[in-house]
Amino acid sequence: MNIILKTENLSKRYGAIQALDGLSLTIPRGSVYGILGPNGSGKTTALGIILGAIRANSGSWSWFGEEPGPKHLRNVGSLLEKPNFLPYLSGERNLKIVADIRGAGYETIEPAMIKTGIYDRRMSNFQTYSLGMKQRLGLAAALLGDPEVLVLDEPTNGLDPQGIFDVRQLIMDEARSGRTVILASHILDEVEKVCTHVAVLSKGKLLAQGTTSELLKSADVIEIAAENTEILHAVLEKIIQVRKITRNGNVLELSVDPSTPMELITGPVTRAGLSPTHLVRRATKLESRFLDLIKGDN
Ligand SMILES: Nc1ncnc2c1ncn2[C@@H]1O[C@H](COP(=O)(O)OP(=O)(O)O)[C@@H](O)[C@H]1O
Ligand SMILES: [Mg+2]
Repeated sequence: MNIILKTENLSKRYGAIQALDGLSLTIPRGSVYGILGPNGSGKTTALGIILGAIRANSGSWSWFGEEPGPKHLRNVGSLLEKPNFLPYLSGERNLKIVADIRGAGYETIEPAMIKTGIYDRRMSNFQTYSLGMKQRLGLAAALLGDPEVLVLDEPTNGLDPQGIFDVRQLIMDEARSGRTVILASHILDEVEKVCTHVAVLSKGKLLAQGTTSELLKSADVIEIAAENTEILHAVLEKIIQVRKITRNGNVLELSVDPSTPMELITGPVTRAGLSPTHLVRRATKLESRFLDLIKGDN
């Protein structure tokens, strides 16, 4: 079974707010799967549903190719937005409680604390932990029982730069050791750095999903216009290097790989008897809809 999680048409409404709107995701085994979207786009709601903490209004999902049930969740470690621990108990004691609840062996506590860098402070009460240490304890809790899947909601929130680096490194190490990671983040840079796959969410809707290199790799935009837009469009859509055509009035905007030579575009156009009345090429780091989506959100 190479699909870890599949969701079909998940929807969730809170009163007038449609938090999730028909979300369908397919998460392959071994991926670091980023759910990328601005605040309020429905990431936490989606994770809450697949973890059985939030009830969906409609839609379905499967874990490991089966109807979701408690036995699957024992194989899924999660860190949701605010880790809930008991303030007057030590980090280690808190992890024992989590291990009891999850049915995870105590022998996984020590390695989890070492990996997340809180082992030295295992005897201190949770309330004395800094924000970064609290987040690390949450990560350690997610690792208890050696689950096959980690579900992490904004795991670098509130961390200092060193903490962010450490957590990203930890995620990549866990992925290398074979764990599948599902990571919700509003930080494009984080998803680009850490994730093999990405789903882009906006207002509860999926805009795109695929491998990170497919979706987020740099693209050039070529703006082109000619006297007959219909014929121009028909010619361009036959060019295999043209990833996408967006119509903007009588200008067509093509998304192409930066290595695509101009001649590959202009050749077929002139051979079709058209002469461009407008031709501009510009580089974009990301496809513009992702930029628009993320822009102004931080
Ligand atoms: N318990 C709730 N009651 C009402 N509205 C909620 C609740 N939880 C989330 N929402 C709303 O649902 C939308 C999606 O929220 P959320 O899933 O937290 O998004 P994200 O994690 O991407 O920031 C937002 O508009 C949010 O305000
Ligand atoms: Mg959230």
